[in-house]
Amino acid sequence: MINNRLEEIGGYPFDRLRILLDPYQPAPSFTPISLSVGEPQHPPPQLVREIINENFELWGKYPLVRGTPDFRSAIVSWLETRYDLPQTMLDGEDCVIPVSGTREALFMIALAVVPEKIHGKKPAVLMPNPFYQVYLGAATLAGAEPIFVDATLETDFLPNFQTQPTELLERTALAYYCSPANPQGKVATLETLKNIINLARDRNFIVLFDECYSEIFHQNPPPGGLEACAALGGSLDNVLVFNSLSKRSNVPGLRSGFVAGDPKLIKAFKTVRDYGGAPPPYPLLAAAAALWRDETHVFQNQMLYRQKFDLADQILENSHGYYRPEGGFYLWLNVGDGEEAALELWRGAAIRTIPGKYLSRENKSGKNPGSSYIRCALVHDKKTTEEALSRLVKTL
Ligand SMILES: Cc1ncc(COP(=O)(O)O)c(C=O)c1O
Repeated sequence: MINNRLEEIGGYPFDRLRILLDPYQPAPSFTPISLSVGEPQHPPPQLVREIINENFELWGKYPLVRGTPDFRSAIVSWLETRYDLPQTMLDGEDCVIPVSGTREALFMIALAVVPEKIHGKKPAVLMPNPFYQVYLGAATLAGAEPIFVDATLETDFLPNFQTQPTELLERTALAYYCSPANPQGKVATLETLKNIINLARDRNFIVLFDECYSEIFHQNPPPGGLEACAALGGSLDNVLVFNSLSKRSNVPGLRSGFVAGDPKLIKAFKTVRDYGGAPPPYPLLAAAAALWRDETHVFQNQMLYRQKFDLADQILENSHGYYRPEGGFYLWLNVGDGEEAALELWRGAAIRTIPGKYLSRENKSGKNPGSSYIRCALVHDKKTTEEALSRLVKTL
């Protein structure tokens, strides 16, 4: 017996990529370079090692789902400083919960908030298209209908939920919103975030702001969901934000993030996690709290990404629709046929990229908005990045 909803989701993008590329040898004259996975290769901060070792004894304890007061207070302080929030807005007891990476949290939250029916109809979950594929898995396995809202060049690379039909908004349970966006790197303005929150409150759905790229930006710090709540008067109703150390601090293997926002939603989420969650172990939480309290390594990280995008500016210039993203570390290149280009880059230049088609789904007009794109993650050091981009331009 297999859950039939799994068929509706289809294969995960990296499995589809293996099926596409693995029957072929990469170009033998080159060392393979993978730009397919958004896994930062910059070194993790040393303090992680030290703090985990210092807290060795705590491996002997089952961690609480709520984590530690120290972790929650590090998150509240970071959020207050980063988004200039009033100190009364976030209660560290009720408004914050640690998670073992935001991937599982973005998935599990749907189990906590999607009801069986809304006004007697199947609930809908809105998401951008292209999008982080976990949203689709979460919506479908929670029994909702996933609704793919174009986030294309024509829509300024962000989804517009406001223009969705009333019938749909009335049965919407939740909406995923990613800024800076993966893969397009677009950053939503504070005004846009406020409009989404207003819509969610008017229509009585929940909005989940996926902000794991918030600290990788090129000019101005991207606004966030909680900042928009503050600008709207401070209520946290209907809003949760998800953030992570994976990209900010180059520790994707630490599996550490948090969810913050509406205490009613945090409570429901905690109940799901009480039954099925894997809360972060205490030594990792201690390291995570220290990372959220340190901005020096984050600043150095930002500098490194900016230098790599300077290289991309020079090497790619205006080719393949190249633009420098406002946030995040991806290139989203329009190459005509993304699958064909990914195959060619692998066979001809030993560069692994991911076809945009695998990160999107067909929209209502039957078009997959990612088909003509490839996504390239600039996660390596400068030298490797330069080498990869030069090969990529020559091959394409
Ligand atoms: C848009 C987006 N959201 C969430 C995640 C999950 O990150 P993590 O589970 O490492 O916190 C990723 C990871 O690549 C991502 O790209």
